[in-house]
Amino acid sequence: MPYIIWRSRMSVGIERIDEDHKQMIRCVNDLDTAINQAVYDPRLTAQTLLSLCQYTKSHFDREEMLMRAVEYPDFAVHKHQHDTARAMLQDICESFMQAPEKAVAERIYKFAADWLVQHILIADMKMVPHIVGTATPAPALAPVPSAVS
Ligand SMILES: [Fe+2]
Repeated sequence: MPYIIWRSRMSVGIERIDEDHKQMIRCVNDLDTAINQAVYDPRLTAQTLLSLCQYTKSHFDREEMLMRAVEYPDFAVHKHQHDTARAMLQDICESFMQAPEKAVAERIYKFAADWLVQHILIADMKMVPHIVGTATPAPALAPVPSAVS
């Protein structure tokens, strides 16, 4: 699998959140590296998986705190996406702990890699204007002036 590379178009313009996203991408890439060792190492894979899960949880908490602070109007939708991802990660991680097989780890990698990039580019981008304070409603357009007599 190719490594995920953080690109400037993934920047949400909030340094702390960008740093979180970069760290999560590192965790996902570390998982990929662990899975694809010359000799599969379930212990190393479990360690990287744990880091990914822990960091993802703390990042979601941070984003949710920010959204609450600015009373983000789409908070419930965004939080639902986080909750779904939390539950998915939890489920697949539990499957891995019961059967630490490479195929299970690959499922986790695929889910995390796809979900993370899509979520950053769509949902996280959407909340940014509200957090950086530029979400002012578009000004009402002035009415078309009537014909001057
Ligand atoms: Fe998010």
